Amino acid sequence: MTDMTDRKEQINFGKMLHGGDYNPEQWLDSPEILEKDIEYFKKAHINEVSIGIFSWSTLEPEEGRYCLDWMQEIIDRLWANGISVILATPSGARPKWMADKYPEVLRVDEYGKRDFFGARHNHCLTSPVYREKVRIIDRMLSERFGKHPAVIAWHISNELGGAAHDCFCPLCQAEFRIFLREKYGSIDNLNKAWATTFWSHTYNSFDQVEAPSRRGENGLHALNLDWRRFVTDRYADFIKAETAAIREGGSILPTTINMMYDFIPINYHKLAPLVDIISWDNYPSWHKKEEAVTAMDTAMQHDFMRSLKKAPFLLMESCPSATNWQAVSKLKKPGMHEASSLQAVAHGSDSVLYFQLRQSRGASEKFHGAVIDHYGGDDTRVFRDVTRVGEDLEKLADVCGTETVAKVAVVYDVENRWAMEQAQGPRNAGLFYTETALKSYAAFRRQGLNVDVIDESQPLDCYSVVAMPMLYMLREGFADKVRTYVENGGRIIMTYWSGIVDETDLCFLGGTPGGLMDVLGLRSTEIDGLYDWEMNTGIPADSFSADGTQDKAYPKEDGGPIISGTKASYTCTHLCDLVRVSTAQPLLVYGSDFYKGWPALTVNRFGEGKAWYVCADFEQRLYDDLYRAIAGEAGIRGPLGEVPEGVEVTTRTGGDKDFIFIQNFRRERVAVALPAGAEILCGEYDGTIDSFGTVAASVRK
Ligand code: GLA
Ligand code: ZN
Repeated sequence: MTDMTDRKEQINFGKMLHGGDYNPEQWLDSPEILEKDIEYFKKAHINEVSIGIFSWSTLEPEEGRYCLDWMQEIIDRLWANGISVILATPSGARPKWMADKYPEVLRVDEYGKRDFFGARHNHCLTSPVYREKVRIIDRMLSERFGKHPAVIAWHISNELGGAAHDCFCPLCQAEFRIFLREKYGSIDNLNKAWATTFWSHTYNSFDQVEAPSRRGENGLHALNLDWRRFVTDRYADFIKAETAAIREGGSILPTTINMMYDFIPINYHKLAPLVDIISWDNYPSWHKKEEAVTAMDTAMQHDFMRSLKKAPFLLMESCPSATNWQAVSKLKKPGMHEASSLQAVAHGSDSVLYFQLRQSRGASEKFHGAVIDHYGGDDTRVFRDVTRVGEDLEKLADVCGTETVAKVAVVYDVENRWAMEQAQGPRNAGLFYTETALKSYAAFRRQGLNVDVIDESQPLDCYSVVAMPMLYMLREGFADKVRTYVENGGRIIMTYWSGIVDETDLCFLGGTPGGLMDVLGLRSTEIDGLYDWEMNTGIPADSFSADGTQDKAYPKEDGGPIISGTKASYTCTHLCDLVRVSTAQPLLVYGSDFYKGWPALTVNRFGEGKAWYVCADFEQRLYDDLYRAIAGEAGIRGPLGEVPEGVEVTTRTGGDKDFIFIQNFRRERVAVALPAGAEILCGEYDGTIDSFGTVAASVRK
């Protein structure tokens, strides 16, 4: 077993992991299948297997009767064949006997009804019985397997938070009150922070507070926010308890939880510090839209996950073929599996792992794609695709453990999203927060720049440029952090519908963006919600004439309009902010409506830095042009310079080398010039890259 004095060091597993979820408990009566699987794994260059994720009823078929020998046998056999194991704690799904004997382990819904037994990921997070049962089994697994040379990490539970509803049982409600008491100290403080005099909802004591419910209180937005924070805190507490049980059992191996795509119910930033490695499950709907569009969206998720710890992560699950839970189970076209897998690696993953290695025979995932399907052979298209990825990963061994250096970032904050989406504000028909953040992300990526996707709690001073689209809620300390950042030379791009409320959703008084009006050199006076069919434009500010609605005409010096081709005009939809500038210079003005001539894009010098303000929901082209100009001004350049449309360029850095990944997500071949001195590690290149092709090359720095 590896001696692990420093857990951080272990996190570079020394090889790109290739493998994934495996459920041998479904095949214990077919030893020939289990044996054959290992043969296939080796053929497909699979070097890791994740087991135990849903094994509880096999590990403990009756209360207190433990059966771990089958697992020992599997782990021994895997190890004898050089295959590592990520071992899961089984808390993601419980045995029936437990639910029957201890109903408190089942969740209660917001209407007060307790669930029946069934499904998964749905245990009460507070139940002392569940916690104790989990503690016992986790500790036992740790004692028995924590020092096995095959085992390299712990997979805590499964997709935490992925249930139909939170738990609203009396135990959880009591914990919620404790959480609030600790947070607010007195009920007066809570009443003020939550604005409870509205509709006479004032509380007299913490004991009166109930969780939000559609049948009860749901109009106190701050209550809803604190409930989400509380639920996150419950998960955090659960992770801590599971980790403690693993440590009690003697294992010091690294831990992870598998996170999910753009997952809103919990704040992953609060969970990230509690695990050693970030991992996530990626199931893009390839071929639904243009592949380049799906690739951009997926890339942003990879970068969000990587930015949680600013460290390599693991792709814990992905589908080797088609899932069976999307509306249409689309097969991946030739080359797509490899492109999708290597995209994860390009963005910082040290693994390509699948759900699932062998397809289950019955129940709800029997048609979910797998490395080995019901046919049971290795002469399949999917098996060949998987094998090819295994070979690629071996060629990319040097990339393992390397970091991703980003000089630009996009702030994409889940608490802000919780607040904004319930706010009942300028556009209940859709605010398009994610889409707007993606526009900023894409504008950077189209230049081949690495991008961190961070939240308001993370540092800014490591970046040259930070985009902060639609930051409706400024969390404690964020405005000050932004001010200092710009003062010291940072560049920010902020947009409409930013700086409106504080952390408990109380509106800022005295003008918005709250605390940042001088940094941006303007004040937002009103915001116009546009109907779906409405549109406005941003036209060059030199066509602007002071019309009495603004204080003064705007000087053209100060670098002049930053967007190249001053004749450009851009369309905008959904939301138009009507700002009054103080020191900011308009670069674009609105082209129509009663606010024609009002600023639509501005820039303000503040301290050593600059702050741009995008007043409306502009088309992608505006972001592309603006961010290219800003990156140019900041002297930031991607490794390829101009990036052809539909191509992704991503860089990982290790020692004296950069590893550059160039991926063609277009449906046709594309010509790309590699940087001088590039040494190709994997992929085919002849001055062009095939559709869905990837070229990974190393370049000495
Ligand atoms: C999730 C789960 C897996 C499996 C897959 C199917 O990622 O963690 O157990 O259900 O979805 O895509
Ligand atoms: Zn509960």
